[in-house]
Amino acid sequence: MLSPFYLALGLLAFSGATHAVTVTVSATASHPVPTTLSHDNPYSKLLQSGDGGLYAELLQNRAFQQVTPGTSAALNAWQAVNGATISVIKETVPVSSALPNALHVTIPSGRSGAIGFANTGFFGIKVTAGSTYTASFFYRFPTATRFRGNAIISLQTTSGQVLGSTTTALSGAQTTWKKVTVQFSPTKTPSSTANRFVITVDGSAASGQSINFAMLSLFPPTFKNRANGMRVDIATTLAEMGPSFFRLPGGNNLEGQTVPTRWQWNTTLGDLVNRPGRQGDWGYVNTDGLGLMEYLNWCEDVGMQPIMAVWAGFALGGTSVAETDLGPFIQQAADQINFVIGDPSKSTAAAMRASLGRVAPFNLTYVEVGNEDFFASSTYVYRWKDFVNSLKGQFPQLHFIATSNVNDPVLSPKPTEYDVHVYQTPTWFAQNSFFYDDFQRDGTKYFEGEYAAISTNPNDIFGSPADGRLVFPTMQSATGEAAFMTGLERNSDIVFAASYAPLLGHVSGTQWTPNLVAFDTGTVYESTSFHVQKLFSLNRGDEYIPSTLPDRTGTLFWSVVRKSTDQIIIKVSNTIGTAASLTFVLPFGTVSTSGTVQVLTGAMTASNSPTTPNAVAPATESITTGKTFNYNAPGFSVSVITFTAH
Ligand SMILES: *[C@@H]1O[C@H](CO)[C@@H](O)[C@H](O)[C@H]1NC(C)=O
Ligand SMILES: *[C@@H]1O[C@H](CO)[C@@H](O)[C@H](O)[C@H]1NC(C)=O
Repeated sequence: MLSPFYLALGLLAFSGATHAVTVTVSATASHPVPTTLSHDNPYSKLLQSGDGGLYAELLQNRAFQQVTPGTSAALNAWQAVNGATISVIKETVPVSSALPNALHVTIPSGRSGAIGFANTGFFGIKVTAGSTYTASFFYRFPTATRFRGNAIISLQTTSGQVLGSTTTALSGAQTTWKKVTVQFSPTKTPSSTANRFVITVDGSAASGQSINFAMLSLFPPTFKNRANGMRVDIATTLAEMGPSFFRLPGGNNLEGQTVPTRWQWNTTLGDLVNRPGRQGDWGYVNTDGLGLMEYLNWCEDVGMQPIMAVWAGFALGGTSVAETDLGPFIQQAADQINFVIGDPSKSTAAAMRASLGRVAPFNLTYVEVGNEDFFASSTYVYRWKDFVNSLKGQFPQLHFIATSNVNDPVLSPKPTEYDVHVYQTPTWFAQNSFFYDDFQRDGTKYFEGEYAAISTNPNDIFGSPADGRLVFPTMQSATGEAAFMTGLERNSDIVFAASYAPLLGHVSGTQWTPNLVAFDTGTVYESTSFHVQKLFSLNRGDEYIPSTLPDRTGTLFWSVVRKSTDQIIIKVSNTIGTAASLTFVLPFGTVSTSGTVQVLTGAMTASNSPTTPNAVAPATESITTGKTFNYNAPGFSVSVITFTAH
């Protein structure tokens, strides 16, 4: 969300004739580029970024969490098949205390054929022949019967064509919950993802029977074959960006609309039947199948460090916990940190981690205290003080990140890190490439934790009607962000990390646009902004080398870094439609006579979307380099020039 701190409008871009500039590069680096800079992303807003997105579970509303039994809404994504009667009930004998509800299925008398129920997934289910799908569920008969028969578990097209199936025996004598796990491999790959997961019994054999089902699940193969893991195509796309950190468990989604519905680390762990889920902050129930342990494993699987938030006494609905009542919440935050890094012999939270199979601590350096606390900055004064004084005392090695506006209000103890968020226009980003240049070098470091060019209309960043609001990032928005990012590199002596937000959005279920990576049930769409993030991340460099500064109010921006001992990387963002000519003058003794340039360019409004998934992608070309060389940056382009020099 936008902070009032950022409401100052940028100057309008001047767009004129072809621009020609000479960039003289310094002989020596000024500061190292932190390994966390560029560029990774929070799991953030949006249907369905975790459930139905990164988290590979294929069934929606799999455990009837946080729904009202007896309502049609409770049956979201579930359908009766061939005349069965289905309803969500509050179980008299729930499968667990965390999951009070069950699906009650009755097979009517006098019918034949396969009768049962289906789940339509998250806007469908992608089915791939030869892949192993793991289905599981709990069932029990509310009253003992003499029924014995097979349940058929299958994936089907909407017209009922079976794509793959298996069977399992059900017994009417089973009145306590029994878990069934089966695996099967579909033999057909349908062209459509409009498929269903179906469980049926034989209608005549099961005539009149009622069966309860709970905690149903269906997983395809996952990223790195983690049980309860991530969706392969989305996870692979994110990993290919070379991210160095992951902000978890999200921004607003940490907070809850109310204190009781806040994200709580200890309800997201262990067996899935022990996770109650919660009403998330972006309009859908979180299963919490993607829990704290899954996030930490995901970080390790991709080589990212977690930037982990703790809930800090403020719920989005507007409640701040009174100072005298903060104690249990500070304790819960300390327990959360101990779960991640504590010693199992000294902390019950750490012992819980060990009991889940992970004895060694995870890596953790940064802990964020709350999220966007500029929305409750007056109470943040005592919340910050009480949380940080206690947590810093217990974990002196950790860095605690403040989330209010910088020095407004003045916080004590003085934050060593701030998380800064900004959603603005492409022009604002270009015109604020120097945003951090004027910041005091007083030891404070900054995490540009959420930023994105979201609208071309400066008067309507969050307005309605959202004229100018982007649905997908464009070349104009991506070049604006890239211009800003050259400033983040220049200021990486104080900006230690940065992440575009939001990271993920399902094209069929998004409350917020644009997102870095869009996806649907079967496909991932890499946006122009994604390509910019990836170009900057994979070409981050080790140290920043000063050069002639761009014009603060201009339209052409650049930065220079060195990687290893002899690789020079120059990034250029041209934020208007007119090409620009740059001459680079290099002070080094030897400069290679050729290098490569990766160029992302396209029309101002060019966008990668489901209808034009590859409208814009980086192209790599060779380029003539030397102690002095020219480069022509196309209109609306981001270029990464790489060569050797020493
Ligand atoms: C989680 O921790 C809170 C207090 O920190 C406690 O009230 C709650 O019962 C715990 N929940 C579970 C499921 O352990
Ligand atoms: C923890 O961080 C250190 C230093 O950054 C790194 O060498 C190590 O591989 C990390 N460990 C894990 C398990 O990620």
